[in-house]
Amino acid sequence: MDPVQEQYELLPYPARDPADEDRRLIVGSPSELVEVDHFLFRGGRDWSQPFRALVAGGGTGDGLILLAQRLRDAGCPARIVYLDLSRAAREVAEARAARRGLSDMIRFETGDIARAPELAAEEGGAFDYVDCCGVLHHLPDPEAGLTALARALAPEGGMGLMLYAPYGRTGVYPLQEAFAQLLGQDPPAEKLRLARAALGALPPTNWFLRNEHLRDHETGDTGFYDLLLHGRDRPYDVPALLALLEAAGLAPVSFVEPARYDPRHYLPEGEEFAARVARLSEPERWALAERLAGNMRAHVLYVAPRERAEARVARPAPDMTPHLNALRADALAREIHKRGRLRVNFSGVRIELPIPREAAPIAARLDGRLTLGRVAQALGLDWLAFGQRYAPLHRALTSANLLRLSRGLK
Ligand SMILES: C[S@@+](CC[C@H](N)C(=O)[O-])C[C@H]1O[C@@H](n2cnc3c(N)ncnc32)[C@H](O)[C@@H]1O
Repeated sequence: MDPVQEQYELLPYPARDPADEDRRLIVGSPSELVEVDHFLFRGGRDWSQPFRALVAGGGTGDGLILLAQRLRDAGCPARIVYLDLSRAAREVAEARAARRGLSDMIRFETGDIARAPELAAEEGGAFDYVDCCGVLHHLPDPEAGLTALARALAPEGGMGLMLYAPYGRTGVYPLQEAFAQLLGQDPPAEKLRLARAALGALPPTNWFLRNEHLRDHETGDTGFYDLLLHGRDRPYDVPALLALLEAAGLAPVSFVEPARYDPRHYLPEGEEFAARVARLSEPERWALAERLAGNMRAHVLYVAPRERAEARVARPAPDMTPHLNALRADALAREIHKRGRLRVNFSGVRIELPIPREAAPIAARLDGRLTLGRVAQALGLDWLAFGQRYAPLHRALTSANLLRLSRGLK
């Protein structure tokens, strides 16, 4: 059996207990529905209309369950196809869906993501959305895999992707190679036992030990195996990622946290550096940011067919509802009022986003229910005056994925 398939049969990833569905929903990127709407459908999709999604390499179901639950909550007549090589992973995902009463909207398939176009045809047409999180970097031929997904995607549709990135995973690859060299012939349980023992005895100079951002190996056997004993795992820096997309006929719409990909956050302020950054193309800036930051463990981004990737991201309009992500409106308003800026922490890098104090009353009203037009009204501002105050707040929050716009989702 292929080593990757063997691994995920033995240790379905991530380790999940279906009973936990009774007490919490795991949220994240990609595939939070309001984020999908914001980044791929201009925040304007009509969610009362049918929606067809593919979760490719769905594992034990984190992305699947999030997407299905949100679509159900939105009352969308949606159909989701889950596809994964691992039967063991599928069993967990199926049990989680059943626990939430979501099974009726999901078709579960065991197989290779190369089957995506065939599944689209069986479903009666291309997918509006494809989730492929943490999968492509494990394929023998990632380009062929992504091309198959792209062929299954509707022209106006889009994908949410996560791929590993090299610098934030510093130390992982030499250790993966060392363990493969030393333990390659051992059965998985022996690999785990011996690799744990070896890790415990490594000298403090080892780069993996020095990388404080990697903690997956501390979460149990599944996390340990996935991080350090994986049978096939290659990271993508920004240029390699863009080449992969290009080969599949896709283009980036946005990284989920665009500010992380702005090199100016990692350089001294002032004209000398600003002028040099200004001379670079956008992809060159993203690549530079990755090299300077050094902390990116993965790239999370939304992509679309190359010819249709423009103008996908939502823009402020009176009928759009702003949704804060992981922020409370009152706390945000207080911080802006007090400091005239918002501090965010991207995996150890503290970034300050300037926001004029006059935007604080707007921030206080971002409750996920009021539209921007209603917020303007509540503040007694016409749309033009409101727009001028709202723009810097919008820019700052969206650059850190702290706000998404949607017309239809509440
Ligand atoms: C790291 S897990 C990610 C699971 C899930 N997407 C998540 O983010 O939680 C990778 C998954 O991809 C699946 N996989 C790997 N290669 C595949 C392929 N060629 N076709 C379908 N699934 C594949 C594995 O079985 C595994 O469940």
